[in-house]
Amino acid sequence: MFAVYAAGIDRENPLSVLGVGDLPEPETPDDWVTVHVRAASLNHHDVWALKGQALKAEQVPMILGTDAAGVTDDGREVVIHAVLGDPEAGGGDETLDPGRTLLSERYPGTIAERVRVPARNLVDKPAELTFEEASCLPTAYLTAYRMIHTRSGTAEGDTILVQGAGGGVATALIVLGKALGRTVWVTSRDEDKRAWALEIGADAAFESGARLPGKVDAVMETVGEATWSHSLRSLRPGGRIVVSGATSGPNPPADLNRVFFLQLSVVGSTMGTIGEFRELLDLMARTGLRPVIDRVLPMDQAAEAIGALASGDVRGKLVLTP
Ligand SMILES: NC(=O)c1ccc[n+]([C@@H]2O[C@H](COP(=O)([O-])OP(=O)(O)OC[C@H]3O[C@@H](n4cnc5c(N)ncnc54)[C@H](OP(=O)(O)O)[C@@H]3O)[C@@H](O)[C@H]2O)c1
Repeated sequence: MFAVYAAGIDRENPLSVLGVGDLPEPETPDDWVTVHVRAASLNHHDVWALKGQALKAEQVPMILGTDAAGVTDDGREVVIHAVLGDPEAGGGDETLDPGRTLLSERYPGTIAERVRVPARNLVDKPAELTFEEASCLPTAYLTAYRMIHTRSGTAEGDTILVQGAGGGVATALIVLGKALGRTVWVTSRDEDKRAWALEIGADAAFESGARLPGKVDAVMETVGEATWSHSLRSLRPGGRIVVSGATSGPNPPADLNRVFFLQLSVVGSTMGTIGEFRELLDLMARTGLRPVIDRVLPMDQAAEAIGALASGDVRGKLVLTP
């Protein structure tokens, strides 16, 4: 079966261990369902896998990819919920199941001709969305949706700050933030990306680390070390940072004086439940909102797409088709 996979682990040069070609059909539980992949989207998670931060050396070769939309053997058009977990084990929330995993961590991922998943993880693809659009939603958009809707403590009319402008999650935070009625401020290191963030709907865009015209109600943080102290400085008293990633590093100074004196909250967020995923799909179908796609490439050009992701040279989602 044609697949894009981690053939090894290389922290310094992840592209050197990217495999593109035929692999034997992987083994999966018998009661799982086959999905013929029509489109799969990439995430920084795929770079982390090649670098050995989301995958161990003894697990390779491992097919990459957490996200896909496709068709089952009986013709059902589906999008895959990327969290493999038991809601009961997480008190009603599969993202809190201590044993939860994503596709491409313990089981083969989605960037292949076919992927097998538990039946519970199949969600009907709204007819309004193309396969390419639907494939963008399971990780970046679901993560952004839960960050704003469930974890940020903000309401319509509140102001959120999104750190970083080009990334998959950052872009999702901008467009979903607007759709959910928030005022959205954005930072980026890059002038062109700041201009582009305004084009896709941000209310204001600032240079990374810039002094803002006012304090925000919540910060959406995926960059980590490079932006953390700015995130803390940007919050109003009682404000909240929602953190779902640390691309530039996980250990910034905590600045505890600021945290307790201003009574700030630091809240983690990871992926979302299947219920939140259905809400997100419904929001997209109802409002006409669509994910921002940087480019769509055939799977055999995965190296170009993963190279762009590793270097940060992206504006929205990268989609691969078989
Ligand atoms: N917890 C979860 O469930 C979950 C889900 C999805 C993603 N994530 C994590 O979230 C992060 C983003 O994921 P993604 O797929 O959106 O990745 P991505 O597309 O590669 O994101 C790149 C972003 O990071 C910013 N950035 C990178 N290095 C920076 C630096 N040194 N200084 C300032 N900004 C920097 C860029 O902002 P500029 O505009 O400044 O270039 C850009 O917005 C990753 O760490 C990923 O693992 C977590």
